[in-house]
Amino acid sequence: MLSATNAAAVLSYVADTGYRFTAVTPLTHQRVNTSRGLRHGETLRDVFGWNIPFSAQALSPELYSRMARAGMLEEVGSLWRSTLRIASVDGDLFLHSAYPTVGADAVFFGPDTYRFARFMKQSLARRLSSVRAGKLMRVLDIGCGSGAGGVVVARALAAAGIKSAVTMNDINPAALTLTAANAEIAGVAVTLAAGDALSAVEGDFDLIVCNPPYLDDEGQRSYRHGGAHLGRALGVRIAAEALQRLAPGGQLLFYTGVAMVDGDDPFLAEMAPLLSATRCDWSYEEIDPDVFGEEIERPIYARIDRIAAVGLVATHPLVPAD
Ligand SMILES: C[S@@+](CC[C@H](N)C(=O)[O-])C[C@H]1O[C@@H](n2cnc3c(N)ncnc32)[C@H](O)[C@@H]1O
Repeated sequence: MLSATNAAAVLSYVADTGYRFTAVTPLTHQRVNTSRGLRHGETLRDVFGWNIPFSAQALSPELYSRMARAGMLEEVGSLWRSTLRIASVDGDLFLHSAYPTVGADAVFFGPDTYRFARFMKQSLARRLSSVRAGKLMRVLDIGCGSGAGGVVVARALAAAGIKSAVTMNDINPAALTLTAANAEIAGVAVTLAAGDALSAVEGDFDLIVCNPPYLDDEGQRSYRHGGAHLGRALGVRIAAEALQRLAPGGQLLFYTGVAMVDGDDPFLAEMAPLLSATRCDWSYEEIDPDVFGEEIERPIYARIDRIAAVGLVATHPLVPAD
């Protein structure tokens, strides 16, 4: 079984090389690999980014032995393939699942992670000027996957002189193992909380961030499947629960995808009354009008217009309600 310590040893080696890789959609990944037609991976980007089989001689003996110790080598004929990929956000690296991410316990990292990161950074930039430097912010990343969201937030807060105590939650234990390794190499101290969203943690938070699964996934994989109502049910439940766990003045940054139907936004329609009931100040934006277009070929999505990436920012009032 993969241990966070052994995974971190591999990541540390790769980080020291200055490695960078931007993760793309599965379709783009497949197209790039097909068009390049590379039989043997030659570089670290081939091995950990494009996930191409490689010969042992393509790696330094030290990296090869760290991968062997971590159990990250899968035999493919006379070659090896890494069982994990590595992607970068800004200067930080994140181990995540091999391509293609078909496993029920696959750990997600993809273009949504970058959109989520940008949404959080932009939202925080607007808010942090009003937060006292030196304050300790209790942060929760729900459904943390590789841990990228929590690390991005911790970096943004640190850059503004704000300390953070970051809790990383996921229902998938494999995600928390990779999060532990990724956070260690990023130098961000985190607390891990395994289980279903808010039920896995106690207390209130000054900042809750979340990029939940939002598709109706045939395979019901935990990183993709958002349950009933075209994949919306889980996100609505998590957002509703998160609103109840904001400290006075606390903020929810909720990134998700919504299947838009007949020009309407059913996620917003469900959230608006819940938001009004909490007396939060809130704003809502479409971040990308059209993601996962290929899903529309599936019968379950036959009556939708599109799937949009959206961002909800909800800020709890400082004064408790009467
Ligand atoms: C779309 S992925 C996002 C991962 C990461 N936050 C990112 O942006 O790259 C959704 C994550 O939510 C987790 N998840 C699914 N259901 C959950 C639940 N009920 N409670 C906590 N995490 C859950 C999945 O295991 C997965 O890691």
